[in-house]
Amino acid sequence: MLEHDVLIVGGGLAGSRAAVEMARTNPTLSVAVVAKTHPIRSHSVAAQGGIAATLKNVDDQDTWEAHAFDTVKGSDYLADQDAVEILTREAPDVVIDLEHMGVLFSRLSDGRIAQRAFGGHSHKRTCYAADKTGHAILHELVNNLRRYGVTIYDEWYVMRLITEEGQAKGVVMYRIRDGHLEVVRAKVVMFATGGYGRVYNTTSNDFASTGDGLAMVAAVGLPLEDMEFVQFHPTGLYPVGVLISEAVRGEGAYLINSEGDRFMSAYAPKQMELAPRDITSRAITLEIRAGRGVHSDGSAGGPFVYLDLRHMGKDKIMSRVPFCWEEAHRLVGIDAVTEPMPIRPTVHYSMGGIPVNTDGQVRSSADGLVEGFFAAGECACVSVHGANRLGSNSLLECVVYGKRTGAAIAQYVLNRKLPSIDEDRYLKEAGDRIQSLLDQDGQYRINEVRQAYQDCMTDHCGVFRAESVMQEGLEQLRQVQKKASEIYLDDKGKQWNTEVLEALELQSLMTVGEVILASALNRQESRGAHCREDFPNRDDSNFLKHTLAYHSSAGVDLAYMPVSITQFEPKERRY
Ligand code: FUM
Repeated sequence: MLEHDVLIVGGGLAGSRAAVEMARTNPTLSVAVVAKTHPIRSHSVAAQGGIAATLKNVDDQDTWEAHAFDTVKGSDYLADQDAVEILTREAPDVVIDLEHMGVLFSRLSDGRIAQRAFGGHSHKRTCYAADKTGHAILHELVNNLRRYGVTIYDEWYVMRLITEEGQAKGVVMYRIRDGHLEVVRAKVVMFATGGYGRVYNTTSNDFASTGDGLAMVAAVGLPLEDMEFVQFHPTGLYPVGVLISEAVRGEGAYLINSEGDRFMSAYAPKQMELAPRDITSRAITLEIRAGRGVHSDGSAGGPFVYLDLRHMGKDKIMSRVPFCWEEAHRLVGIDAVTEPMPIRPTVHYSMGGIPVNTDGQVRSSADGLVEGFFAAGECACVSVHGANRLGSNSLLECVVYGKRTGAAIAQYVLNRKLPSIDEDRYLKEAGDRIQSLLDQDGQYRINEVRQAYQDCMTDHCGVFRAESVMQEGLEQLRQVQKKASEIYLDDKGKQWNTEVLEALELQSLMTVGEVILASALNRQESRGAHCREDFPNRDDSNFLKHTLAYHSSAGVDLAYMPVSITQFEPKERRY
């Protein structure tokens, strides 16, 4: 059996930043990162537009309090304000620390880090590396992992979290190269497993974003928080759904409907294209529903609207958002210097996740904690984003709470012993699970079941929601779940058996989708990204609270947890 002081599952920004912090704090700790891709291919690498921090390089009137207020207002007052305060206060220091690690940020002419406008932020505070910010940061962090001697298990799939007697003890992992299984025990397990965009059929997320961490947590009876809040990024490139960064609008691009109108004037007259994402995604969806979308031949009534960069000019486009230009050119043959891009909302981010306190320790309930178990990044819900995240606050969350959780673990682990684990039991259980997938004599291919499932979620729990539609979605989901137990795998081998991997991932997706639907059904109000057509108003008297969802084979049980309100009393949001 392998063993480490700390085992981090997930090699993206939050996991890597936590590992660096542990190694810096206590170089004698044995810290390992396990990831199903190489850490440099984690989804954080795809982050584009930037990381928010009140460096005041462009706008000296900015303050961390203004950043905190924007974040809480953006969250539709569901964010925990103590956690937001930490996020925004610590932002400048973590960005400067990244710079010291070697991250190549874009610069002002005087050499300081450049900052740009972003949706829902009242000041220009988003630091960036053109439109490849995640790439710039993750590469330096992963270089630092190596520098600090962190063990990396890349291309291993963690298929089970081991918890016994109310504490986390380790994991079972599967080596994708040859199907080898290992139990790893650790004094502390940390999850930084990212999001679940692949629950939906159109997403900016990569193929690996299948919510495995969330499903593993649910499988051991722990709750997931606020899973009804799914972020749709307004500008997914049509039809593929890849991200066209908000930085494009931050640098001045317009949203235009089939009539040539900058329609955001009807939805957010002050902030226009830089309204928060929930509002902008709804506006685009409503324009398309009203017949003011565009077809590929340019006629009205189609499934997308335009993102128009032409007035920005070639030099600005190529220096500030070159990757977005390249995506549109490569994927849909559009030269954004001379033509508008076709866009519509795409699933982008999970506001909810594994509930944690501000040290990253996982909650077992509204008032209990799990010993030996921590989480950070998109898979976690500390809740700094509440019902709707502001762009450029997610890289920030990964770095602030990755660092903070790493520091907390470096202390916590000193009082932990290596747990004992019945290795044979867990190896047998994992082996049986894989063998039963291989032996399954069903009639469906994985991809057809996955597609049916993703379509079901997209059609029944999208930008707009309603009880009858979601009920129908849950029923359909159960039928798709039945089909998932009747899939067959062509590949019965052990070498690079990606079918086994996809079958395990499909099980994760199914769990996560059911939790999203059940949590969304129960929240009978509209708040942030959760927009109920049958309950169009926010209802603070009944729903200013976090959802905790416990999944089991019998269904989903719900409980609630209070929101921390320190400085900003909830009021109506206007932009
Ligand atoms: O639009 C973007 O570049 C995405 C940024 C974010 O999600 O924070």
